[in-house]
Amino acid sequence: MLFGFKKPAIPLAAGRIDSVGIIMDGNGRWAKRRGMPRLAGHAAGAARVEEVLTVLREMGIHHVTLYAFSTENWKRPKEEVDGIMDLVYKYLREVVREKIVSDGHFAVRFAGDTSVLPEKLREECREIEAMGENKEFICYVALNYGGRDEIVRSVKRALESGEEISEAAISRHLYTSPSPDPDLIIRTGGDMRISNFLLWQSAYSEFYFTKTLWPDFDRGEVIRAVESFLGRKRRFGGLNKEDK
Ligand code: IPE
Ligand code: IPE
Ligand code: MG
Repeated sequence: MLFGFKKPAIPLAAGRIDSVGIIMDGNGRWAKRRGMPRLAGHAAGAARVEEVLTVLREMGIHHVTLYAFSTENWKRPKEEVDGIMDLVYKYLREVVREKIVSDGHFAVRFAGDTSVLPEKLREECREIEAMGENKEFICYVALNYGGRDEIVRSVKRALESGEEISEAAISRHLYTSPSPDPDLIIRTGGDMRISNFLLWQSAYSEFYFTKTLWPDFDRGEVIRAVESFLGRKRRFGGLNKEDK
């Protein structure tokens, strides 16, 4: 490069990682540590999304699923749930619509039962989905998403369309179809559990857990997660050449 400053080198994931899932956890603790209300943590968390998506795209990754709100998160106090819904709406309108989808590289889809979300949020989801067709990068936002709920829904849909139940039929009706299963699932916030995320799709995913809280998860953290993945050997139940 002749002009300007070089950004830190990013590993090229193309060919090794096509799909990533992220459990964006730790917003509440981030806020608590600063003596701020939990919602301030969710706002700081939303502000990380654009940078993370951009780095993943620069690496040559084409499919990302972001866990934004689970089917179990309704158990939280109404004030927090309402605040999260408002934040999601605002972020979709001001950043996803105006910057992320408008830049022409990204398509955004929603994974989860959006039918029970506030009407203006549902409308925004519909409009954003309609803005991005056939793009090189698909971002699924998992909103009122549960992995068990998704599997039940897929089986029902397969039966309704008269298909015989098979792994292929269930896969075909998942929210994330036809995107490939995640190669890598990242969870921030220090807990080592799946919390009902992509249960079907994660059968052979590699997991990366970090104590870093989601609002602190930046470009360098994405690079660390991908480098960890690139150093691993996957076998899918078989053997690699060097194992024989
Ligand atoms: C993740 O952060 C965001 C949502 C679940 C909506 P949390 O709100 O779970 O943050 P912690 O885990 O309490 O720190
Ligand atoms: C998982 O985080 C859901 C999202 C990040 C949206 P939670 O904070 O809800 O998970 P648990 O309750 O600690 O398992
Ligand atoms: Mg949490």
